[in-house]
Amino acid sequence: MTNMKPLRIAGVGYSLPETVVTNDDLTKLYETSDEWIYTRTGIKERRLVSGDENAIDLGERAARNAIAKSGIPAEEIDCIIAASSAPPQLYPAIACHMQSRLGIPNFVPAFDITAACSGTIYALQIARSFIGSGTYKNILIVATDNNSRLLDWTDRGSSILFGDGAGALVVTEAEDGVDDILALDIRADGSIGEYIYMNMPGKTCPLVEPNTPQDCHIRMNGKEVYKFVVKVLPKYIDKCLEDAGMKAEDVDYLIPHQANQRIIEAMQQRLGYADEKVISNIKYYGNTSAASVPIALAEGVEKGTVKLGTTAILCGFGAGMTWGAAIVRLREGIC
Ligand code: COA
Repeated sequence: MTNMKPLRIAGVGYSLPETVVTNDDLTKLYETSDEWIYTRTGIKERRLVSGDENAIDLGERAARNAIAKSGIPAEEIDCIIAASSAPPQLYPAIACHMQSRLGIPNFVPAFDITAACSGTIYALQIARSFIGSGTYKNILIVATDNNSRLLDWTDRGSSILFGDGAGALVVTEAEDGVDDILALDIRADGSIGEYIYMNMPGKTCPLVEPNTPQDCHIRMNGKEVYKFVVKVLPKYIDKCLEDAGMKAEDVDYLIPHQANQRIIEAMQQRLGYADEKVISNIKYYGNTSAASVPIALAEGVEKGTVKLGTTAILCGFGAGMTWGAAIVRLREGIC
């Protein structure tokens, strides 16, 4: 798009549930070990929702944090996009829940997108088009999933990987003319959709045919996902750097989707980055889907591992298969 209005990332926030489930805890469910899980994935523990808490609550907390940091009053938000692939309800959209819970007035549009773990990058691309074209000015993006409620806890191939969590961003028109998006691209290959999928529950009318039991859990072919991502993503990031007119060494951080430490290391190797430039918290949270990038960013700033006034490569991949990357400026004060 030419003559697009520039975008400023104004605030970032996150929220995690309290309950910790360690790899050792999982040995009570099936035959596995901390050593097996940690060496293959980099995960030691994950956080899971409990009781009445769900992804809407996590999303609300992350959104409140991002809005507070942004300095933009909730009543000035004019569009809400939520990214979720393991929501507590298919509808109303999580974004509609955010509008109501946060008291965002004026009947502003609110909708969810499903791009699985690439959701935040997809939402950023949508927000960028809205802001760039002048359609909306202040957009709240919320990425939140309660994966733990949709996993098959007898399937040790998939349930070891995921955790629950939420991340949020407030993006706005950059009135100073400086665009925080240096490059942004999203992709999909639906022909390999069977690598990660989840069927919706649903029964046929008994007058049409008898109902058979259905599987409605997150299902994954981990090996194929791994091979695909390691083949595609590092090269893809090279392309995004080229789009930004930058070299790997020009960017301060890699803040990748937290799916597997070995995948993160494959990207790190390609970029030639030292450990300090690569943000990883997968050890403590597992894969929190679309929320993982904003959680890693906001927590990194909180812990001092991400300095602001810098630039970062954000990237995601997930069911679809979908993938996407953004090279962004991280201004002071965003979280
Ligand atoms: N504990 C112990 N053994 C396990 C196990 C577990 N939790 N899960 C699987 N195994 C066993 C398998 O049964 C298999 O045994 P077999 O050889 O006797 O059949 C063996 O370990 C190897 O299984 P495999 O699935 O080939 O393991 P893997 O090396 O591919 O590792 C993943 C599995 C899931 C850790 C890995 O494929 C992965 O991380 N993939 C990427 C997934 C991802 O990123 N998904 C999210 C995308 S957003």
